[in-house]
Amino acid sequence: ARWIGLITVLMVFLSGCGKNHLSTLRPAGEVGQEQFNLMILSIIIMLFVVAVVTILFTLAVVRNRRSKRGEDFQPKDVASNHTLEVIWTAVPIVLLIILAVPTVYLVFKQADTSASVTEDGEVNPEETVINVRAYQYWWEFEYPAEGVVTSQDLVVPTDTRVYFNLLGADVKHSFWIPAAGGKMDTNIDGINSFYLIFDEDAAEETDRLFYGKCAELCGPSHALMDFKVTALAEEDYDQWLADMQAIEEPVQASSEDAQAGQEIFADSCMGCHATTSTGAGAMGPNLTNFADRELIAGYLEHNEENLQEWIRDPETLKPGNKMTGTYDLTDEEIELVSAYLMELSVEEGSGDLEALE
Ligand code: CUA
Repeated sequence: ARWIGLITVLMVFLSGCGKNHLSTLRPAGEVGQEQFNLMILSIIIMLFVVAVVTILFTLAVVRNRRSKRGEDFQPKDVASNHTLEVIWTAVPIVLLIILAVPTVYLVFKQADTSASVTEDGEVNPEETVINVRAYQYWWEFEYPAEGVVTSQDLVVPTDTRVYFNLLGADVKHSFWIPAAGGKMDTNIDGINSFYLIFDEDAAEETDRLFYGKCAELCGPSHALMDFKVTALAEEDYDQWLADMQAIEEPVQASSEDAQAGQEIFADSCMGCHATTSTGAGAMGPNLTNFADRELIAGYLEHNEENLQEWIRDPETLKPGNKMTGTYDLTDEEIELVSAYLMELSVEEGSGDLEALE
Protein backbone atom coordinates (compact mmCIF):
# COMPACT_ATOMS: atom_id res chain seq x y z
CA ALA A 1 0.00 0.00 0.00
CA ARG A 2 2.92 2.31 0.70
CA TRP A 3 4.20 1.75 -2.82
CA ILE A 4 0.84 2.55 -4.33
CA GLY A 5 0.82 5.87 -2.47
CA LEU A 6 4.33 6.68 -3.67
CA ILE A 7 3.52 5.77 -7.27
CA THR A 8 0.36 7.90 -7.16
CA VAL A 9 2.34 10.91 -5.95
CA LEU A 10 4.95 10.29 -8.65
CA MET A 11 2.28 10.05 -11.35
CA VAL A 12 0.81 13.36 -10.24
CA PHE A 13 4.24 15.00 -10.50
CA LEU A 14 4.95 13.41 -13.87
CA SER A 15 1.61 14.42 -15.32
CA GLY A 16 2.06 17.99 -14.10
CA CYS A 17 -0.93 18.03 -11.75
CA GLY A 18 -4.19 18.03 -13.66
CA LYS A 19 -4.37 20.38 -16.63
CA ASN A 20 -1.58 20.02 -19.10
CA HIS A 21 -0.22 23.49 -19.70
CA LEU A 22 3.40 22.37 -19.91
CA SER A 23 3.90 18.62 -20.26
CA THR A 24 5.44 16.73 -23.15
CA LEU A 25 3.83 13.56 -21.83
CA ARG A 26 0.27 14.57 -22.77
CA PRO A 27 0.60 16.06 -26.25
CA ALA A 28 -1.80 18.81 -27.28
CA GLY A 29 -1.54 18.25 -31.02
CA GLU A 30 -0.35 16.12 -33.91
CA VAL A 31 3.31 17.18 -33.85
CA GLY A 32 3.64 16.60 -30.12
CA GLN A 33 1.81 13.28 -30.44
CA GLU A 34 4.15 12.07 -33.19
CA GLN A 35 7.18 13.01 -31.12
CA PHE A 36 5.66 11.37 -28.04
CA ASN A 37 5.07 8.14 -30.00
CA LEU A 38 8.69 8.22 -31.11
CA MET A 39 9.80 8.57 -27.49
CA ILE A 40 7.68 5.56 -26.51
CA LEU A 41 9.12 3.52 -29.39
CA SER A 42 12.70 4.33 -28.38
CA ILE A 43 11.94 3.58 -24.72
CA ILE A 44 10.50 0.18 -25.67
CA ILE A 45 13.58 -0.63 -27.77
CA MET A 46 15.91 0.49 -24.98
CA LEU A 47 14.01 -1.53 -22.38
CA PHE A 48 14.24 -4.57 -24.65
CA VAL A 49 18.03 -4.15 -24.92
CA VAL A 50 18.38 -3.62 -21.17
CA ALA A 51 16.26 -6.71 -20.47
CA VAL A 52 18.17 -8.99 -22.86
CA VAL A 53 21.59 -7.84 -21.61
CA THR A 54 20.55 -8.14 -17.96
CA ILE A 55 19.16 -11.66 -18.45
CA LEU A 56 22.27 -12.89 -20.32
CA PHE A 57 24.56 -11.30 -17.74
CA THR A 58 22.65 -12.79 -14.81
CA LEU A 59 22.58 -16.23 -16.46
CA ALA A 60 26.33 -16.12 -17.05
CA VAL A 61 27.04 -15.12 -13.47
CA VAL A 62 24.66 -17.61 -11.89
CA ARG A 63 25.63 -20.59 -14.04
CA ASN A 64 29.34 -20.10 -13.56
CA ARG A 65 29.43 -19.51 -9.80
CA ARG A 66 32.51 -21.04 -8.15
CA SER A 67 30.45 -22.03 -5.10
CA LYS A 68 28.39 -24.19 -7.45
CA ARG A 69 31.07 -25.48 -9.80
CA GLY A 70 33.95 -25.86 -7.33
CA GLU A 71 37.05 -23.75 -6.57
CA ASP A 72 39.03 -24.91 -9.62
CA PHE A 73 36.27 -24.29 -12.16
CA GLN A 74 37.24 -22.22 -15.23
CA PRO A 75 34.53 -21.36 -17.77
CA LYS A 76 35.15 -22.60 -21.29
CA ASP A 77 37.44 -20.27 -23.24
CA VAL A 78 35.67 -19.46 -26.50
CA ALA A 79 37.70 -17.64 -29.17
CA SER A 80 34.93 -17.12 -31.69
CA ASN A 81 31.38 -18.19 -32.33
CA HIS A 82 30.10 -17.40 -35.77
CA THR A 83 26.39 -17.68 -34.95
CA LEU A 84 26.63 -15.42 -31.89
CA GLU A 85 28.62 -12.79 -33.78
CA VAL A 86 26.02 -12.66 -36.53
CA ILE A 87 23.23 -12.32 -33.95
CA TRP A 88 24.82 -9.49 -31.95
CA THR A 89 25.64 -7.61 -35.12
CA ALA A 90 22.32 -8.13 -36.87
CA VAL A 91 19.97 -7.49 -33.93
CA PRO A 92 21.32 -3.96 -33.13
CA ILE A 93 21.23 -3.09 -36.84
CA VAL A 94 17.59 -4.13 -37.04
CA LEU A 95 16.76 -2.18 -33.86
CA LEU A 96 18.48 0.94 -35.15
CA ILE A 97 16.65 0.69 -38.46
CA ILE A 98 13.32 0.34 -36.62
CA LEU A 99 14.19 3.54 -34.75
CA ALA A 100 15.74 5.38 -37.69
CA VAL A 101 12.94 5.01 -40.23
CA PRO A 102 10.19 6.86 -38.27
CA THR A 103 12.74 9.33 -36.88
CA VAL A 104 14.02 10.42 -40.27
CA TYR A 105 10.49 10.44 -41.67
CA LEU A 106 9.25 12.75 -38.90
CA VAL A 107 12.30 15.03 -39.02
CA PHE A 108 11.61 15.77 -42.66
CA LYS A 109 7.83 15.87 -42.29
CA GLN A 110 7.90 18.32 -39.37
CA ALA A 111 10.50 20.55 -41.02
CA ASP A 112 8.37 20.90 -44.15
CA THR A 113 7.28 24.52 -44.07
CA SER A 114 6.97 24.91 -47.82
CA ALA A 115 3.26 25.79 -47.55
CA SER A 116 4.11 28.88 -45.47
CA VAL A 117 5.56 30.71 -48.47
CA THR A 118 4.05 31.40 -51.85
CA GLU A 119 5.77 30.70 -55.16
CA ASP A 120 7.16 34.25 -55.13
CA GLY A 121 8.78 33.67 -51.74
CA GLU A 122 6.23 35.82 -49.93
CA VAL A 123 4.47 34.82 -46.70
CA ASN A 124 1.43 32.75 -47.66
CA PRO A 125 -1.62 34.69 -46.37
CA GLU A 126 -3.71 31.49 -46.47
CA GLU A 127 -1.59 29.93 -43.72
CA THR A 128 -0.83 30.97 -40.14
CA VAL A 129 2.77 32.16 -40.17
CA ILE A 130 4.43 33.70 -37.11
CA ASN A 131 7.90 35.20 -36.97
CA VAL A 132 9.46 34.63 -33.55
CA ARG A 133 12.31 36.81 -32.33
CA ALA A 134 13.99 35.81 -29.09
CA TYR A 135 15.63 38.50 -26.99
CA GLN A 136 17.37 38.42 -23.60
CA TYR A 137 14.90 37.67 -21.93
CA TRP A 138 11.61 38.00 -23.75
CA TRP A 139 9.84 36.97 -26.92
CA GLU A 140 8.43 38.93 -29.83
CA PHE A 141 5.76 37.42 -32.07
CA GLU A 142 5.09 38.98 -35.45
CA TYR A 143 2.17 38.01 -37.67
CA PRO A 144 3.66 39.26 -40.96
CA ALA A 145 0.66 38.72 -43.24
CA GLU A 146 -1.64 40.49 -40.78
CA GLY A 147 0.79 43.23 -39.75
CA VAL A 148 0.46 42.49 -36.04
CA VAL A 149 3.18 42.34 -33.38
CA THR A 150 2.90 41.12 -29.80
CA SER A 151 5.38 40.18 -27.15
CA GLN A 152 5.36 37.54 -24.43
CA ASP A 153 1.83 36.48 -25.37
CA LEU A 154 1.61 34.15 -28.33
CA VAL A 155 -1.89 33.66 -29.73
CA VAL A 156 -2.48 30.77 -32.15
CA PRO A 157 -5.48 29.20 -33.91
CA THR A 158 -6.42 25.58 -33.18
CA ASP A 159 -6.74 22.62 -35.56
CA THR A 160 -4.42 24.03 -38.19
CA ARG A 161 -0.72 24.13 -38.89
CA VAL A 162 0.97 27.12 -37.24
CA TYR A 163 4.26 27.87 -39.00
CA PHE A 164 7.05 29.46 -36.99
CA ASN A 165 10.11 31.26 -38.37
CA LEU A 166 12.63 31.50 -35.54
CA LEU A 167 15.37 34.07 -35.10
CA GLY A 168 17.53 35.09 -32.13
CA ALA A 169 18.01 38.85 -31.71
CA ASP A 170 21.12 38.81 -29.52
CA VAL A 171 22.32 35.35 -28.51
CA LYS A 172 21.09 31.86 -29.27
CA HIS A 173 17.83 30.89 -27.55
CA SER A 174 15.51 27.94 -28.09
CA PHE A 175 11.77 28.05 -28.70
CA TRP A 176 9.83 25.38 -26.86
CA ILE A 177 6.12 24.80 -26.19
CA PRO A 178 6.40 21.42 -24.43
CA ALA A 179 2.74 20.44 -24.75
CA ALA A 180 2.71 21.09 -28.50
CA GLY A 181 6.11 19.68 -29.44
CA GLY A 182 9.47 21.03 -30.42
CA LYS A 183 11.93 22.34 -29.56
CA MET A 184 13.98 24.38 -32.00
CA ASP A 185 16.90 26.81 -31.65
CA THR A 186 16.52 30.49 -32.47
CA ASN A 187 19.87 31.25 -34.11
CA ILE A 188 21.20 34.71 -34.84
CA ASP A 189 22.68 33.88 -38.25
CA GLY A 190 19.78 32.14 -39.94
CA ILE A 191 16.09 31.38 -39.67
CA ASN A 192 14.90 27.99 -38.45
CA SER A 193 11.37 27.01 -39.41
CA PHE A 194 8.93 24.38 -38.26
CA TYR A 195 5.25 24.02 -37.53
CA LEU A 196 3.09 22.99 -34.57
CA ILE A 197 -0.57 22.01 -34.30
CA PHE A 198 -2.83 22.79 -31.36
CA ASP A 199 -5.89 20.55 -31.13
CA GLU A 200 -9.17 22.28 -30.33
CA ASP A 201 -10.04 19.50 -27.85
CA ALA A 202 -6.73 19.75 -26.03
CA ALA A 203 -7.02 23.55 -25.92
CA GLU A 204 -10.48 23.29 -24.37
CA GLU A 205 -9.13 20.97 -21.70
CA THR A 206 -6.48 23.47 -20.62
CA ASP A 207 -8.70 26.59 -20.73
CA ARG A 208 -6.86 27.44 -23.99
CA LEU A 209 -3.68 28.10 -22.08
CA PHE A 210 -0.22 26.64 -22.63
CA TYR A 211 3.22 27.81 -21.61
CA GLY A 212 6.40 28.13 -23.61
CA LYS A 213 9.99 28.27 -22.45
CA CYS A 214 13.44 29.19 -23.59
CA ALA A 215 15.32 25.90 -23.78
CA GLU A 216 18.87 27.12 -24.41
CA LEU A 217 21.03 28.62 -21.66
CA CYS A 218 21.23 32.26 -22.72
CA GLY A 219 22.28 34.25 -19.66
CA PRO A 220 21.46 34.80 -15.98
CA SER A 221 17.69 35.08 -16.53
CA HIS A 222 17.37 32.17 -18.95
CA ALA A 223 15.11 30.32 -16.50
CA LEU A 224 12.70 33.30 -16.44
CA MET A 225 12.32 33.50 -20.21
CA ASP A 226 8.80 32.09 -20.34
CA PHE A 227 5.88 32.99 -22.56
CA LYS A 228 2.17 32.36 -22.59
CA VAL A 229 0.39 30.58 -25.43
CA THR A 230 -3.32 31.10 -26.00
CA ALA A 231 -4.89 28.67 -28.46
CA LEU A 232 -8.19 30.04 -29.83
CA ALA A 233 -10.79 28.52 -32.12
CA GLU A 234 -10.43 29.95 -35.61
CA GLU A 235 -13.20 32.57 -35.40
CA ASP A 236 -11.92 33.82 -32.02
CA TYR A 237 -8.41 33.93 -33.39
CA ASP A 238 -9.57 36.03 -36.35
CA GLN A 239 -11.41 38.31 -33.93
CA TRP A 240 -8.26 38.71 -31.83
CA LEU A 241 -6.26 39.62 -34.96
CA ALA A 242 -8.91 42.16 -35.95
CA ASP A 243 -8.84 43.68 -32.44
CA MET A 244 -5.07 43.98 -32.62
CA GLN A 245 -5.13 45.44 -36.13
CA ALA A 246 -7.56 48.08 -34.91
CA ILE A 247 -4.92 49.55 -32.57
CA GLU A 248 -3.20 51.75 -35.13
CA GLU A 249 -2.76 54.62 -32.67
CA PRO A 250 -1.74 54.21 -29.02
CA VAL A 251 -4.78 53.70 -26.78
CA GLN A 252 -5.57 57.03 -25.11
CA ALA A 253 -5.42 56.93 -21.32
CA SER A 254 -8.75 57.65 -19.63
CA SER A 255 -8.06 58.31 -15.94
CA GLU A 256 -6.14 61.40 -14.86
CA ASP A 257 -3.27 59.35 -13.40
CA ALA A 258 -3.02 57.30 -16.56
CA GLN A 259 -2.93 60.43 -18.72
CA ALA A 260 -0.04 61.80 -16.68
CA GLY A 261 1.56 58.37 -16.93
CA GLN A 262 1.17 58.36 -20.70
CA GLU A 263 3.20 61.57 -20.92
CA ILE A 264 5.95 60.15 -18.74
CA PHE A 265 5.86 56.98 -20.83
CA ALA A 266 6.26 59.03 -24.01
CA ASP A 267 9.37 60.71 -22.59
CA SER A 268 11.06 57.77 -20.86
CA CYS A 269 9.81 54.49 -22.32
CA MET A 270 8.56 54.98 -25.88
CA GLY A 271 12.09 54.87 -27.29
CA CYS A 272 12.09 51.12 -26.67
CA HIS A 273 8.46 50.06 -26.21
CA ALA A 274 5.82 50.31 -28.93
CA THR A 275 2.15 50.64 -27.96
CA THR A 276 0.63 50.00 -31.36
CA SER A 277 0.18 46.51 -32.72
CA THR A 278 2.38 47.19 -35.73
CA GLY A 279 5.47 48.22 -33.78
CA ALA A 280 8.04 45.52 -34.60
CA GLY A 281 11.75 45.61 -34.11
CA ALA A 282 11.76 48.08 -31.21
CA MET A 283 14.31 47.51 -28.45
CA GLY A 284 11.84 46.29 -25.85
CA PRO A 285 8.63 44.27 -25.75
CA ASN A 286 5.58 45.64 -27.56
CA LEU A 287 3.07 46.71 -24.91
CA THR A 288 -0.07 47.18 -27.01
CA ASN A 289 -2.12 44.64 -25.07
CA PHE A 290 -0.18 44.86 -21.82
CA ALA A 291 -3.25 45.07 -19.57
CA ASP A 292 -4.67 41.88 -21.10
CA ARG A 293 -1.67 39.82 -20.13
CA GLU A 294 -1.56 37.26 -17.41
CA LEU A 295 2.04 37.74 -16.36
CA ILE A 296 4.50 40.60 -15.98
CA ALA A 297 8.04 40.11 -17.29
CA GLY A 298 6.97 36.59 -18.27
CA TYR A 299 6.59 35.21 -14.77
CA LEU A 300 5.25 37.71 -12.18
CA GLU A 301 1.58 37.79 -11.29
CA HIS A 302 -0.12 40.56 -13.26
CA ASN A 303 -0.99 43.30 -10.77
CA GLU A 304 -0.08 46.92 -10.27
CA GLU A 305 2.12 46.25 -7.25
CA ASN A 306 4.34 43.83 -9.20
CA LEU A 307 4.39 46.16 -12.18
CA GLN A 308 5.69 49.04 -10.04
CA GLU A 309 8.24 46.77 -8.41
CA TRP A 310 9.36 45.63 -11.87
CA ILE A 311 9.77 49.20 -13.18
CA ARG A 312 11.54 50.22 -9.96
CA ASP A 313 14.08 47.40 -9.94
CA PRO A 314 14.07 45.15 -13.00
CA GLU A 315 17.64 44.02 -12.36
CA THR A 316 16.69 42.19 -9.17
CA LEU A 317 13.64 40.55 -10.76
CA LYS A 318 15.33 39.61 -14.04
CA PRO A 319 19.12 39.86 -13.80
CA GLY A 320 20.88 40.90 -17.00
CA ASN A 321 17.82 42.41 -18.70
CA LYS A 322 18.30 45.33 -21.10
CA MET A 323 15.83 47.67 -19.37
CA THR A 324 17.93 48.28 -16.27
CA GLY A 325 19.44 51.77 -16.13
CA THR A 326 17.76 53.14 -19.26
CA TYR A 327 15.47 55.55 -17.37
CA ASP A 328 15.28 57.47 -14.13
CA LEU A 329 11.80 57.67 -12.61
CA THR A 330 10.64 58.69 -9.14
CA ASP A 331 8.26 56.44 -7.20
CA GLU A 332 5.42 58.81 -8.02
CA GLU A 333 6.20 58.71 -11.73
CA ILE A 334 6.37 54.91 -11.60
CA GLU A 335 2.87 54.83 -10.08
CA LEU A 336 1.55 57.03 -12.89
CA VAL A 337 3.24 55.00 -15.63
CA SER A 338 1.85 51.79 -14.20
CA ALA A 339 -1.64 53.31 -14.08
CA TYR A 340 -1.23 54.02 -17.80
CA LEU A 341 0.08 50.56 -18.66
CA MET A 342 -2.83 48.96 -16.82
CA GLU A 343 -5.17 50.66 -19.31
CA LEU A 344 -3.49 49.18 -22.41
CA SER A 345 -6.16 46.69 -23.41
CA VAL A 346 -7.35 45.55 -26.83
CA GLU A 347 -9.88 42.94 -25.90
CA GLU A 348 -13.15 44.57 -26.88
CA GLY A 349 -14.47 41.62 -28.84
CA SER A 350 -12.46 38.58 -27.76
CA GLY A 351 -14.38 37.12 -24.86
CA ASP A 352 -12.15 34.06 -24.68
CA LEU A 353 -9.09 36.03 -23.75
CA GLU A 354 -11.02 37.87 -21.07
CA ALA A 355 -12.13 34.60 -19.52
CA LEU A 356 -8.48 33.70 -18.99
CA GLU A 357 -7.62 36.63 -16.77
CU1 CUA B 1 16.73 32.57 -23.87
CU2 CUA B 1 17.43 30.81 -22.50
